[in-house]
Amino acid sequence: MSRPDIPRYTAVTRSLHWFVALMVLATIPIGVIMLQEGLARPTQDLLFILHKNGGVIILLLVLVRIVWRMRSPAPALPSTIPPWQARIAHGVQVALYALLLVMAISGYVRVRAGGFPVEMLDALSLPPLVPRSEALAETAQQIHATARYPLVALILLHVGAGVKHLLARDGVFARIWPPVGR
Ligand code: HEM
Repeated sequence: MSRPDIPRYTAVTRSLHWFVALMVLATIPIGVIMLQEGLARPTQDLLFILHKNGGVIILLLVLVRIVWRMRSPAPALPSTIPPWQARIAHGVQVALYALLLVMAISGYVRVRAGGFPVEMLDALSLPPLVPRSEALAETAQQIHATARYPLVALILLHVGAGVKHLLARDGVFARIWPPVGR
């Protein structure tokens, strides 16, 4: 799958991409499962802890990825890829970054404005960045619950395009794979 003739993303970009992808793919189902009725309390508490702290790690890594991406632009696509496809792919990537930020920030605001802990940040003695407010927590919760739909739709689109390129062996998937190494 690795093609020496294809210019690839840097090892840092590839590692961050796959690590954040795994984190997001775990965080979404955990977020849905932890809200199900009838869960044992310790299980629910554990899922909430994993979800909140995993979400904060995603937020930090997405910010790192945005800064890194500005400093290290994407390598050229193979010339066989039509410009319209390149434009759509770029739009989907920008929207994915934006939705991940919306999800992570709204989750953080929902929890902090509601007066709940974020264990990792509390352990580091980092104070809440938003005031305590039920109205703010409620708005953030609605944003968090709604933004997951376009996020999941875009992830499916992004993964579908990735699988298409993988099967077509046109060199596009090889730009982002393998996650580590040269
Ligand atoms: C990109 C990161 C994140 C994703 C993809 C994500 C995804 C989700 C999803 C899919 C749900 C279920 C929504 C529902 O069924 O109504 C959820 C719920 C929740 N998330 Fe996140 N989340 C993220 C980050 C965070 C962060 C950073 C926090 C807090 C620090 C957080 C706190 C919560 C809470 C408290 C709920 C339950 C909301 C409620 O009260 O109904 N999430 N999340």
